[in-house]
Amino acid sequence: MAENIPDPREELAVLKQQLAHAQRMAALGELVGTTTHEFNNALMTILNYAKLGLRHKDEPTRDKAFDRIFAAAQRAERITNSVLGMARNRGDEFAPTDLQALVEETMVLLERELQKYRVTVRKQFAPAPPVRAVGNQIQQVLLNLATNARQAMPGGGELLLRIAHDEAAGLVDLTVRDSGSGIPREVLPKIFDRFFTTKAGPDATGKGGTGVGLATCRDIVEAHQGRLRVESTVGKGAAFTIRLPAWQEQGGGAASSAIAPLGVPCDASQISP
Ligand SMILES: Nc1ncnc2c1ncn2[C@@H]1O[C@H](COP(=O)(O)OP(=O)(O)OP(=O)(O)O)[C@@H](O)[C@H]1O
Ligand SMILES: [Mg+2]
Repeated sequence: MAENIPDPREELAVLKQQLAHAQRMAALGELVGTTTHEFNNALMTILNYAKLGLRHKDEPTRDKAFDRIFAAAQRAERITNSVLGMARNRGDEFAPTDLQALVEETMVLLERELQKYRVTVRKQFAPAPPVRAVGNQIQQVLLNLATNARQAMPGGGELLLRIAHDEAAGLVDLTVRDSGSGIPREVLPKIFDRFFTTKAGPDATGKGGTGVGLATCRDIVEAHQGRLRVESTVGKGAAFTIRLPAWQEQGGGAASSAIAPLGVPCDASQISP
């Protein structure tokens, strides 16, 4: 009977969703490792300075110990808040999402890794309204883009995160720009293809080399009725911009709207230098 024949488009959409989910689990797995390590570092600092303060009764040493303990505890608090934020963002529904808060929470998790690779982070956040988004999915896009950016700067560099509001269009832009190798003209048309990669394999942090990152980003952004755009100059770097619709209280942004099916027409445009 006709209704028993599976629709290949539906099957493809389901497979894409499953792949995006698997990619998210892999990304989260890596982050849990990094985060646990970071939390432990903060805890070690707290323990060591508490011991110092107990051993030395003089006021300057104790003040110094309290300062260090306070700073490390604040860092530990930021780490747990990020993890809790990830857990909170697990829903699959579109909701009004504060991009700036999402970026801040996500970057706490990457802070140390970026430091290790001598990548400095610059933020340019213009005031912007909340966007219509599934928080954890946009976080996944950001993690993929930031990881690619870091991998494009093996000798260090600058990662710029910019939020801009296009009020007339009702859109908010999130740009992830690096000062890395850039993308050669002949490679550019392929970067969103699933399994396309120029990396030999995973790097020392276990990331990169499957060619799934950008394909997943594109699927997610399309499901948000957004756009993912890339600009690149070889030798100077690459910039990926996610354009998302601002949340509208009436009309398009009903709080209960389910996620749009994956595989809506592609609007991931590519702009070569
Ligand atoms: N910021 C960037 N600078 C330079 N090249 C990039 C950048 N981002 C992506 N690329 C290129 O696009 C390719 C595809 O990226 P994509 O994230 O999809 O896969 P990957 O990073 O190789 O592997 P993974 O699936 O682990 O993310 C990369 O291999 C690289 O050649
Ligand atoms: Mg990648």
